[in-house]
Amino acid sequence: MYFSGFMSNNIVVAIDGYSSCGKSTLAKALAKKLHFIYVDSGAMYRAVALYFLRNNIDSNNHEQIAEALKDIHLNFHSRDYQTHITLNDEEVSEEIRLMPVSEKVSEVSAIREVRKEMVKQQQRMGYSKNIVMDGRDIGTTVFPAANVKIFMTADPKVRAERRYKEIHDKNPEITLEDIFENIAHRDYQDTTREESPLVRAADAIILDNTNLTPEQQLQFALDKVEPFL
Ligand code: DC
Repeated sequence: MYFSGFMSNNIVVAIDGYSSCGKSTLAKALAKKLHFIYVDSGAMYRAVALYFLRNNIDSNNHEQIAEALKDIHLNFHSRDYQTHITLNDEEVSEEIRLMPVSEKVSEVSAIREVRKEMVKQQQRMGYSKNIVMDGRDIGTTVFPAANVKIFMTADPKVRAERRYKEIHDKNPEITLEDIFENIAHRDYQDTTREESPLVRAADAIILDNTNLTPEQQLQFALDKVEPFL
């Protein structure tokens, strides 16, 4: 059964948008400020992609996918509003950010059965608790009745530069061009896939943060949530 944010009086903030737009930075800051729970839905798709890679699951084999989904157990542990996710009790928070997973995740997150299972788990997390969830389909599919929906966007070049700065120290072999291509590829896959493509919900507020500081973005979001507090 689907429970909307309104039925149980809790507040749900949905933050959707393109890859590497700063969704998680904003979502974390907002959750911290308001003492809400933060859920990084992308981390769930990434953990599933990691499982598929490790176990050679064929994205076209529905039987294999169904078996895999039964065997995948994801859990979040939030420490200081950082996402710690476990896949079958193994902490995979760092591994899911590496390039092999980033390259696989679009394919895996386009699979209908995978989305159905993730959405079910995400809706459960939003029942009765105040949460901020970021992703691609949170305002359209997971919580169509969310109190506040923000759709984030930014210039792709700026997004690639930000991600490059973030990961360069740990991954000096990855070039800015690699990142730009990965972002462009994910944008294409996310917006053109058949299942829940990335699209702005009609009632989502657009936040283009190309020229905004994190503080300005936080203030923007706080102003939108304020009426519901
Ligand atoms: O937000 P992210 O880059 O960590 O997300 C990883 C991938 O998961 C991204 O390519 C799109 C997909 N995703 C999705 O399809 N739906 C969501 N709610 C969140 C992420």
